[in-house]
Amino acid sequence: MFVCICKAVTEEEVHEHMDDGADSADAIGEKCGAGWGCGTCVDRLNELLCARYRQSRCSSLTAEVSIRRGSWVNG
Ligand code: FES
Repeated sequence: MFVCICKAVTEEEVHEHMDDGADSADAIGEKCGAGWGCGTCVDRLNELLCARYRQSRCSSLTAEVSIRRGSWVNG
């Protein structure tokens, strides 16, 4: 199944990149370009990262999504 349509990246490829040490959406993007097109897949990338790294990192990943989408609001 494709995670990123823009870059034709599958979920299996994302898992391979995480196996190789990618621990953020940006790190996955550096390896394959996922998330660096329209950005629609960043939520799914972060879901996969949260599942891999457990809930402890999910709040910071959510902030990353907000920043990437330009929706970050201070306070
Ligand atoms: S679907 Fe991944 S960047 Fe567009």
